[in-house]
Amino acid sequence: MTRRGNDLVDSARARLTHHLLWGFLFMNAPFAALAQQPPLADDVIEARVVELVSRMTIEEKIGQMVQTHYPGEVSGDLRGAIEAGRVGSLLNVVDVDVANELQRIATEESRLGIPLLLARDVIHGFRTVLPIPLGQAATWNPELVERGTRNAALEAASTGVNWVLAPMIDISRDPRWGRIAESFGEDPYLTSRLAVAMVEGFQGDELSAPGTIAACAKHFAGYGASEAGRDYNTTNIPENELRNVYLPPFKAAVDAGVATLMTSFSDLDGVPASGNRFLMQSVLRDEWDFDGFVVSDWDSIDQLTDHGFAADFRDAALKAVTAGVNMEMVSRTYADHLAELVEQGETGMERIDQLVGEILRIKLRLGLFENPYTEPGEFPEPGNDDHLAVAREAALQSLVLLQNEDNALPLDVGALDSIAVIGPLSDDPYEQLGTWIFDGDPELSRTPLQAIRAFVGDRADINYVRALETSRSRDTGGFGEALAAARASDAVVLFLGEESILSGEAHSRADIDLPGAQVELVRALRAAGKPVIAFILAGRPLTVENILEDVDALVFAWHPGTMGGPAIADVLFGVESPSGKLPVTFPRVVGQIPIYYAHKNTGKPATPDTYVQMDDLPVRGAQAAFGMTSHHLDAGYTPLFPFGFGLSYGRFTYSDIELSRSTLGMSDSLTVQAVVTNSGDMEADEVVQLYVRDLVGDVTRPVKELKGFRRIRLQPGESRTASFELHPANLAFYGQDMKWMIEPGEFHVWVGGSSDTELRASFTLVDE
Ligand code: BGC
Repeated sequence: MTRRGNDLVDSARARLTHHLLWGFLFMNAPFAALAQQPPLADDVIEARVVELVSRMTIEEKIGQMVQTHYPGEVSGDLRGAIEAGRVGSLLNVVDVDVANELQRIATEESRLGIPLLLARDVIHGFRTVLPIPLGQAATWNPELVERGTRNAALEAASTGVNWVLAPMIDISRDPRWGRIAESFGEDPYLTSRLAVAMVEGFQGDELSAPGTIAACAKHFAGYGASEAGRDYNTTNIPENELRNVYLPPFKAAVDAGVATLMTSFSDLDGVPASGNRFLMQSVLRDEWDFDGFVVSDWDSIDQLTDHGFAADFRDAALKAVTAGVNMEMVSRTYADHLAELVEQGETGMERIDQLVGEILRIKLRLGLFENPYTEPGEFPEPGNDDHLAVAREAALQSLVLLQNEDNALPLDVGALDSIAVIGPLSDDPYEQLGTWIFDGDPELSRTPLQAIRAFVGDRADINYVRALETSRSRDTGGFGEALAAARASDAVVLFLGEESILSGEAHSRADIDLPGAQVELVRALRAAGKPVIAFILAGRPLTVENILEDVDALVFAWHPGTMGGPAIADVLFGVESPSGKLPVTFPRVVGQIPIYYAHKNTGKPATPDTYVQMDDLPVRGAQAAFGMTSHHLDAGYTPLFPFGFGLSYGRFTYSDIELSRSTLGMSDSLTVQAVVTNSGDMEADEVVQLYVRDLVGDVTRPVKELKGFRRIRLQPGESRTASFELHPANLAFYGQDMKWMIEPGEFHVWVGGSSDTELRASFTLVDE
């Protein structure tokens, strides 16, 4: 049934009026200030869900549960499927005319006029590319992450996208895993804070407001624990660890109102996530009261057969529906088998109604029934100056200074006649963008070389040599020219790392050294005897201990995105101090993985006195020589750089930790404060971090857990008191019986600029 002609005219007129009004407002007010038609009240939405579902045929219900991949054209088949109500969502439509045409078919040509969800992976920016999420995590700045995400939402929404498949909030403690690039790193608290920032950036305060889009927290759950860091691999996570480490970011996203979740490809303790009723029913719906919907990952329902969890696609559909997957991404088990499963009584119609209703609820909350169309002219231009400025700030704050011997950084341009810029990532507009940048525009990229040239102008010569074609190249033919350039210059600035394609989905590595001949390049250039500054652009932590002696300064830049170049130049020349902090531990060697700061203590913890290097072991020494403690003979027990670490051009010291009370009752709160001083001679940001240890627990507790952080800015010589509030609820965890508990006892608390801070105080939590 199509709508009557004058309904169409009316709706076109309403749209036009709305567009004109919107356009007028947009010229006169900041975009965020625009409120469109008031959102539908919850009870109205619920009533419409019930009413709609009651009018749907089984085919139309199943249609809402089907997400297809856009085939690249509005083919007759696709048109017919949408008209017949057999598609609820499409993936990867980013042409606004196509989006509007598809919405027109859905809302005006289908019987019930249900609009489409148009989904896209907007992982770190859209046209304007922000640093990879792991780099954004290094900013420890949720407010900045939210701003960048808001801009990405606007850019994506201008093409008709109304659902983003982000944020990815898998805890990852394994840098071999290529998808660590998409994550916020190893820590549940930092990840939770940034998960909320991204959800709020995409969804705003009100899902139906202009330019806000539905977010999708993924991958539920445990994907980051893939064995050996090999993508898609099995995960085994005891329930207690699942609840204390892997689930909190998802809980935070749900509490922040995330509209949707995506399942994981992985097998969790023998029950693949896409068929996991414990995750999707017991935890997500029963415990957390989630009322949005869950989409599978790409083909992950039919892959239940590959896992050996379902006998065939029919069985896979049954298991996924029973577990609580509302929508199937790309594979067709729902389309092909759900009707039969209902007819034969293997799944009830109430189950289908519930799952469909949850999808419709999000479509209604998005305001798509009222306005399914997109007018790109109403949005700010993608890649505009404001978006570039936020991307630059995010890149700047993501830069982590790992080493700075003799204050090799920053460079003083006035004191240099020439600078050698060397390396495969010095001037590569594409590679600095990182993984998952379908919509990124390399033409917008400002490379380090461009930015250095722009900053230096004619004050010094720039001698640029790429030296290696790509980060993987083994051909050392360019080394001679690079060495000559280094010899002819007063300082050497290297841009090394990994190309984009070496991280991301299905791009795991077993060896995470700098690839290709880059280590040899660093060593070769040392012969020039000049200060060497290395910037590493990469999608994961790399094992860089093997170059530390041959570089004076080392900055980890992740894949910094569109504005990486200017951010890097600002740090290189001291316009700004680096202020990023590691969101993930850097191992010395791959064999230490997993290595993370919030580990358990073991019964035989290593200490500096009980650790010995292999070469120092006495020949035929007693087994117990140097103590029997938990370490590697050839790598010790400490990481190369700890979680939370990052140097500055300021010099931050911490002192005078004080607690407002030494005994904390269950209804009290505790203020923890410490004095932070910048005794350096440059103004800089510092990320002050708060850690806690619960000394004795119903289950053993980590040796340190992040509980708060704050970015502050201090002038040279300035001291400031940083304070944090702690409540008993911040000390809660899941105990042996999987209950959330707040357990009385002794706690240590630290404040500092890294997880290895030693500035400590203690308090007692009492049950009164
Ligand atoms: C990834 C998801 C992504 C989806 C759609 C899958 O391969 O695992 O994270 O959202 O593809 O592109």
